[in-house]
Amino acid sequence: MSVNVAVVGATGAVGDLIRKVLQERNFPIKSIKFLASEKSAGKSVEFAGKQYTVERIRPEAFADTQIVLSSTPSSVSKQYSPIAAKAGAIVVDNSSAWRMDPDCPLVVPEVNAEQLHHIKKGIVANPNCVAIPLCVALKPLHDLATVKRIVISTYQSSSGKGATGLTDFNAQVSAWAAGKPVPAPTAHRAQLAGNVITLDWTLDPNGFTEEENKVINETRKILGDATIGVCPTCVRVPVKVAHSESITVEFARPLSVADAKAALAKAPGVVFMDETKGEFPQPIHAEGSDHTFVGRVRQDPSNPNALCLWVVADNLRKGAASNAVQCAEELVKRGIVK
Ligand SMILES: NC(=O)c1ccc[n+]([C@@H]2O[C@H](COP(=O)([O-])OP(=O)(O)OC[C@H]3O[C@@H](n4cnc5c(N)ncnc54)[C@H](OP(=O)(O)O)[C@@H]3O)[C@@H](O)[C@H]2O)c1
Repeated sequence: MSVNVAVVGATGAVGDLIRKVLQERNFPIKSIKFLASEKSAGKSVEFAGKQYTVERIRPEAFADTQIVLSSTPSSVSKQYSPIAAKAGAIVVDNSSAWRMDPDCPLVVPEVNAEQLHHIKKGIVANPNCVAIPLCVALKPLHDLATVKRIVISTYQSSSGKGATGLTDFNAQVSAWAAGKPVPAPTAHRAQLAGNVITLDWTLDPNGFTEEENKVINETRKILGDATIGVCPTCVRVPVKVAHSESITVEFARPLSVADAKAALAKAPGVVFMDETKGEFPQPIHAEGSDHTFVGRVRQDPSNPNALCLWVVADNLRKGAASNAVQCAEELVKRGIVK
């Protein structure tokens, strides 16, 4: 079966990659269109050797569309995703607009693809780019020993702020390396070149950032257990692409390092890197990959029920574009898209 697809937010960092990932994975396309704001309407984008004109988003654009892959700011998704769903499409949305809506499944195909059978509003939410690799890495361990509590610190790349983040990063790093005055940030909250930023997101009333609260809430929803304790600290670091995560995870019972490594080595979507072979996951491994890289698995010396691990994934691909396209593939494979 091949389907009519619309890529919304096609000119952004995630939308641009969705176009590439659809081609790489040979997604079965009958027709495709590319939508963005008025600002980009009329621009040309290449897909499968053909040029397409970017169209302005508008309600009529969704007629005859079966799958919408949307990567816009939340406010735009809140307005247009219900319109696309009403027109008969299933929307896979990368924004945070629908993630905690009980009627919208929040899906990481390697973890909870079966949730795709419970789409009540015509919208599937793609999780946050920290929560996706966290859940891919923890699912095989959760199945073995039941996750009770997660303490996570992140090392998040500049591209997490989209195309404007990357513009900041490139301008700052080249000036910094040349010993020239570093331009003031536009997307990031502070200078990123030669620096790390612990407050690169809006601060919520509970003292955690909006990003940290997403990690708490989305991880629980994806793993299907609202009682899991999650304590995150999200940090922006001067890396262009791929987020890294330092994770301490406590289980209901002891889980040996050997058993954890064996489970990770055969887990779907995971590339396990063994430090005994001198391997350790790095952002440069993950950039351009759809896999979640896991390594540095250690026993927590302060807690017999806990392990420590290091996880890296491309935030634009597995953290957004590729996970969305994988969801779309499952929708087709499972006969959910008609
Ligand atoms: N970057 C990441 O690592 C990442 C990971 C997971 C999820 N996400 C989420 O994915 C979404 C897109 O992120 P991004 O990083 O790709 O952002 P981005 O580079 O800023 O791209 C935003 C896209 O949305 C379009 N857009 C903006 N306002 C619009 C409007 N009023 N009507 C129609 N289209 C509009 C833009 O079109 P124009 O070019 O015409 O303005 C552009 O195509 C966000 O919700 C983000 O939170 C991002």
